This record gives sequence, C-alpha cells and structure tokens, in this order.
Amino acid sequence: MDRRASQEGDSFIIKRMYVDLKLDVKSLIREGAELIDQTLESLIPAATTVPASIHGAMRHSVFAGGKRLRPVLAIQSAIAVAGRAPAGIANLGAALEMLHTYSLIHDDLPALDNDDLRRGKPTCHVAFGEAIAILAGDALQTQAYEVLAKLECPVAAIVEIIRLVAQATGTVDGMIGGQVLDLEGEHQKPTPALVEAIHRAKTGALIRVSVVTGGIFAGASAEQAARLDIFGRKAGLAFQIVDDVLDVTQDSEQLGKTAGKDLTSDKATWPAVFGLEQSLKDADRLITEAFEALQSFGPNAEGLKAVARYLVERKN
Ligand code: IPE
Ligand code: IPE
Ligand code: MG
Ligand code: MG
Ligand code: MG
Repeated sequence: MDRRASQEGDSFIIKRMYVDLKLDVKSLIREGAELIDQTLESLIPAATTVPASIHGAMRHSVFAGGKRLRPVLAIQSAIAVAGRAPAGIANLGAALEMLHTYSLIHDDLPALDNDDLRRGKPTCHVAFGEAIAILAGDALQTQAYEVLAKLECPVAAIVEIIRLVAQATGTVDGMIGGQVLDLEGEHQKPTPALVEAIHRAKTGALIRVSVVTGGIFAGASAEQAARLDIFGRKAGLAFQIVDDVLDVTQDSEQLGKTAGKDLTSDKATWPAVFGLEQSLKDADRLITEAFEALQSFGPNAEGLKAVARYLVERKN
C-alpha cells in the first residue's frame, strides 16, 4: 500500500474511532481491529512469496480471526495520552499482534498445550506441520522487531519500546517465563502465589506492555507511563483470569478453541484455586482498581476504560 494513502486511511478511521467513543465499545474494538487487519495485510509477505509455505502459515494464524485486543489497547492508550491516535500507531499494534500470534502458535504445539483448534480454525501445526508452525512463530517474532525498529516516533522512544517489548515477552516475568511456569505447574496443586505469577507473566506482561508502549509512542511523560503501567498490570491479570473462567463456562464453538482444556490438562488456573464465583469477582475488582490509575487522564481515557471493561465482560 502507498504509505501516504495508508496514513490518510489511518487518520480517517482513527478520527471516526475517536468520535465513536460515545457509541458502544464493540464498534470501537471492531474499527480498531479492521485498522490492524489492514496493516498486518500490508506488512506480512503474500502467501505466494517464496518460501510460500511459511508465509501461508503465518497468514493462516494471523488472519484466523483474533480479537486484536492488544493493539486496540495500545491505540486507546495513545489516545489517553495525546487526545487522538497518532499517525503510525497501527504499526505498533500490528507488531504486538504478531508477537501475540507467535505466542499462540507455540502455545498450541504438541509439546506445549497440544491444541488442534485456534481462532475457530485448525491450529498452525495441524494445517502446516510442526516444523513450519515452529518457524512461523519464530518468523512472526522477528518480523515484529523489524516493524518496531521502523516506528514513526523519536528514536529514543523506539529503543525504549523495543526494550520493554523484549522484556515483556522474555523469561523473567515475561511471556516465555510464564509459559515455562504454566507447563511446570501442570499436575501440581496450584497455590495462589504460583497461579498469580503464571498469569502475570504468560499473559499479563504482553497486555501491560501494549498499554505502556501505546502511551510511549504518543509521547507519555514518565509519570503517565507509570500510571499506564499500573493500569496495564491489573487489566492484564484480569484478562487471564477471565480466559480461565471462559475455558470452564463456554463451549468450543463460542471460544474458537477447545473448551474445558485446562481441566483435562490439569492446569494451574484461577478458578482451580479460588473457584468460579471468586474469579469473576477478582477480575471485576482488578478492573475497578485499574481505572483509578487513569484518573489524571480525564475523558481522554474513556476508550481505554471501555476496552478494559470489555476484557472482563467478553464471552470469547
Ligand atoms: C488468548 O488470547 C490467549 C491468551 C493469552 C489467554 P485472546 O483471547 O486475546 O485471543 P485472540 O487473539 O482473540 O485469538
Ligand atoms: C496462553 O495461555 C498464553 C500464551 C499464549 C502466552 P493459555 O494456554 O491459557 O491460552 P489459550 O487458552 O490456549 O488461548
Ligand atoms: Mg498455555
Ligand atoms: Mg493454551
Ligand atoms: Mg486459556
């Protein structure tokens, strides 16, 4: 896509998104997701680009129908800081979605959760074989950093965004470390401390960094970034608590992934430790606490709050 045309498209959609804040959160999310889908479409090589198998596999998983909640959080966080979505924010969102999809492809592998359904479609390894699925996950990760390095914001902000994203997906309190704890936590009696550590790392860290980097992209001060960090930390934990609840309460068709999987895999989940009712109360409380961190942003943070509320009210 021609870059100027793409930017004009961005600002048209973003302007509508901003004006639409008073409408419902579903249209806010849908329009954000559409913008991210267009951006991913232009960034990920065509399925015919050699070697075609891996590009087909990357596209299969990325375009299977994800909710795009991490990019939408990044966009709304930028709006909280700047009052409007800055040009080029969609590239940050697309990079975050590439990293998230990489984590899902690897999460589903036989050696990890061994799932054959994801986003309503066969998982990457079922459709393309394990070797290509592993490499498609790797490729989405490396491409994400290529996109981050080219972000349209001051170089100091780019370096900080890359540092934070690498840390959030890494081994210490990050996504990979959380996945290790999750796997090693199977078939053990889960404690509250263990399940919280798993959830903060495997899922919470990427959500938190989506919020914080959206703000940094928009020029957040250190104080604003610290507030977004508190908000993202609470919203990220609430998100995974709800993922655990939905695994129990919804069916596979509604989820687009195998329901009841946590119980059969004997996973350390929030409901396993605290029960379903308490889990929902905890998620709700975390979102209410998260809102307090946004007070100084005033009405510019209404979209971010609405998306956070959706994180705990969603049904898939
Ligand atoms: C699912 O995330 C995996 C977790 C980290 C719990 P989402 O519920 O955001 O999945 P998609 O992106 O919409 O498929
Ligand atoms: C996945 O957690 C977290 C990451 C992908 C990093 P889950 O294993 O609970 O996610 P689902 O339920 O398969 O989507
Ligand atoms: Mg898992
Ligand atoms: Mg899983
Ligand atoms: Mg789950």
